[in-house]
Amino acid sequence: MGGILAYVLIFLVSVVSYIIKKRDKKESCTGIKLPPGSMGWPYIGETLQLYSQDPNVFFSSKQKRYGEIFKTHILGCPSVMLASPEAARFVLVTQAHLFKPTYPKSKEHLIGPSALFFHQGDYHVRLRKLVQGSLSLDAIRNLVADISATAASILDSWDGGRVLNTFQEMKTFSFEVGILAIFGNLEAHYREELNRSYRIVDKGYNSFPTSLPGTPFKKAVLARKRLSKILDDIVCERKEKRLLEKDLLGCLLNSKDEKGEVLTDDQIADNIIGVLFAAQDTTATAMTWIVKYLHDNQKILEAVKAEQIAIRKLNDEENQPLSWSQARNMPLTHKVVLESLRMASIISFTFREAVADVEYKGKRKYN
Ligand code: HEM
Repeated sequence: MGGILAYVLIFLVSVVSYIIKKRDKKESCTGIKLPPGSMGWPYIGETLQLYSQDPNVFFSSKQKRYGEIFKTHILGCPSVMLASPEAARFVLVTQAHLFKPTYPKSKEHLIGPSALFFHQGDYHVRLRKLVQGSLSLDAIRNLVADISATAASILDSWDGGRVLNTFQEMKTFSFEVGILAIFGNLEAHYREELNRSYRIVDKGYNSFPTSLPGTPFKKAVLARKRLSKILDDIVCERKEKRLLEKDLLGCLLNSKDEKGEVLTDDQIADNIIGVLFAAQDTTATAMTWIVKYLHDNQKILEAVKAEQIAIRKLNDEENQPLSWSQARNMPLTHKVVLESLRMASIISFTFREAVADVEYKGKRKYN
């Protein structure tokens, strides 16, 4: 099932920046056709249709009707959607120079416009290095005991015969690990405040973007403002204490560009929220698939359990937490993780904006 999903759900939403009239005029001049599909109503396009049903149904019914490439107009953007591995390779690999990363404004607004996903060039390279550095093996090595303790505490909370939603539980876990990687051991009240506001932002992220009071989107916008305030307080405290931590916040605070400029507080906040967004759902989705695959393969489940129980027994006898070398030496568990990542569909779509006219299989996709 994961394999099929990986093939079918590679949607690339590509934004067309010109107005429809201009596009149609150009189309009749060049003789190259836009893909089939509907642009819906003026201004709102097909956004209401998208939100009035399961988005998967919206996309798959269009895919059934028009094929692997079709045009639409969603979230304020005239768009072309591509849904095949071949088309994904075209946009992301072979013709990547014709596109730049762009997200719908509503999503950019919630994450923060200075997050690295929305940028190219020197700023992007700088931020990417900082994020990668904070996730280096050396940095993670120091987190093993805390990650292990977080996992144990979440497992303890499962006692009591409740029905659990695996994905939601995995989200709780990946959020806590994200907080550890970003801030190290953050005070409990900050963790709780971040968690409360972040959940509201997360809930509104894929909701219909409107400024009407009481809607999930508006609540998310307000919660995002609260997140900025909490992050300001944390940054301020860290600066006052002059701590030189190696976590992501420390890396962002200590970074200077070639002119000696440090990052602004807004740039730091947007990138922290960005990394939490990038890390939480992806990791939680991967872990959810792992649970499902293990459930479906009882023999492998028993073998993974045996590998884990052996380590646990040793550590219980010596009263030791999980060590870095043990985490690096779980051959079967490691293979299960790699195979699950290979099979599962984790990121089902992404966005790109064309920076020039693009032709794909004789059809013009973008102005
Ligand atoms: C199984 C887990 C993960 C998967 C499948 C995954 C997948 C991806 C993909 C496909 C992209 C590219 C999106 C695009 O170009 O439109 C991406 C970007 C990114 N991911 Fe992940 N990711 C995972 C976990 C994480 C984690 C744990 C972090 C934590 C830091 C992270 C941080 C990022 C960042 C910062 C970017 C933007 C990179 C850039 O713009 O250069 N991801 N991820």
